[in-house]
Amino acid sequence: MYVNLEPCSHWGKTPPCADLIISGGIPRVVIGCADPNPLVAGKGIRRLRDAGIRVDVGVAEEEAQRLNHAFITFQTLHRPRIILKWAQTRDGFMDKLRTPDTSAGVNWITDLKLKSLVHRWRAETDAILVGAGTVRNDDPELTTREWPGKSPLRIILDREGDSGTDYRVYDGSVPTWIYTASPPVETTDKVLFIPVNPPDQSVFNSLMDTLYQHKILTLLIEGGKETLEGFMRQGLWDEYRVFTGNRFFGQGIAAPPLPSQPELTYHFGNELLEIGYNCKHLAR
Ligand SMILES: NC(=O)c1ccc[n+]([C@@H]2O[C@H](COP(=O)([O-])OP(=O)(O)OC[C@H]3O[C@@H](n4cnc5c(N)ncnc54)[C@H](OP(=O)(O)O)[C@@H]3O)[C@@H](O)[C@H]2O)c1
Repeated sequence: MYVNLEPCSHWGKTPPCADLIISGGIPRVVIGCADPNPLVAGKGIRRLRDAGIRVDVGVAEEEAQRLNHAFITFQTLHRPRIILKWAQTRDGFMDKLRTPDTSAGVNWITDLKLKSLVHRWRAETDAILVGAGTVRNDDPELTTREWPGKSPLRIILDREGDSGTDYRVYDGSVPTWIYTASPPVETTDKVLFIPVNPPDQSVFNSLMDTLYQHKILTLLIEGGKETLEGFMRQGLWDEYRVFTGNRFFGQGIAAPPLPSQPELTYHFGNELLEIGYNCKHLAR
């Protein structure tokens, strides 16, 4: 048997996998990587060996750890796997310049066909987060309406809490948490206001603790600039997915620099998707 993660040895939602392997009479098990969950952590391997099974551990270990990136991050760092996502123009802007005279609204950077790919990513994550500036300007829904699959939990960072609740993310169609220093009196079972104290650094610890407690394994950060840069400054990212559209704004809100060299590049016509990883905590 070949498995990318150590078979478990404890009762969780299901009985121990190691016992099933033993009772199935499988003579040899090849394991990609050990399970960092303290409830397992080598006990699964030991149980198999004690039953006389030949066990090889660490075969294609790096690949196996990457397959289990979210689980390992959750178990070792007690936070979700964090994916940063943004779109930038060829000349490096996330949006046009806002002046008191410009009206709010989205300035699309990439071909609208790529929207369904982003909605697919949303369907693959447990939670999605944006800053209040993005809510005020873009009024996003943050749902998976262009891809089959469940819309993730929506999380908004709104320090001042002065954005008002007249935006789509407050429509109650999907559970939404708003981190704010000034929660309004009214909350509903779908829209939850979570108080945070300025200065803003505190929001990261509080957010990571709450997500860990709620077993949120993956978090997609969809901007804007201040929010993305805040997560990068804290080292709170595991992957980035950055689109470069075939447009030029000339001036505007400068996109953050890529936090590392991209490992993967995809071309969609004249547009580009670059993906990079932060796997420091996966190294043995
Ligand atoms: N191209 C893209 O991929 C993309 C994606 C998203 C957005 N955008 C564009 O980016 C612009 C918005 O970017 P932005 O940088 O102005 O806004 P933003 O990051 O969306 O929101 C900034 C606000 O979020 C809150 N916030 C952020 N970090 C926080 C923290 N650590 N603790 C507490 N609150 C925090 C603050 O709320 P308060 O305001 O209450 O202090 C802050 O002012 C818009 O023009 C939007 O269209 C582009």
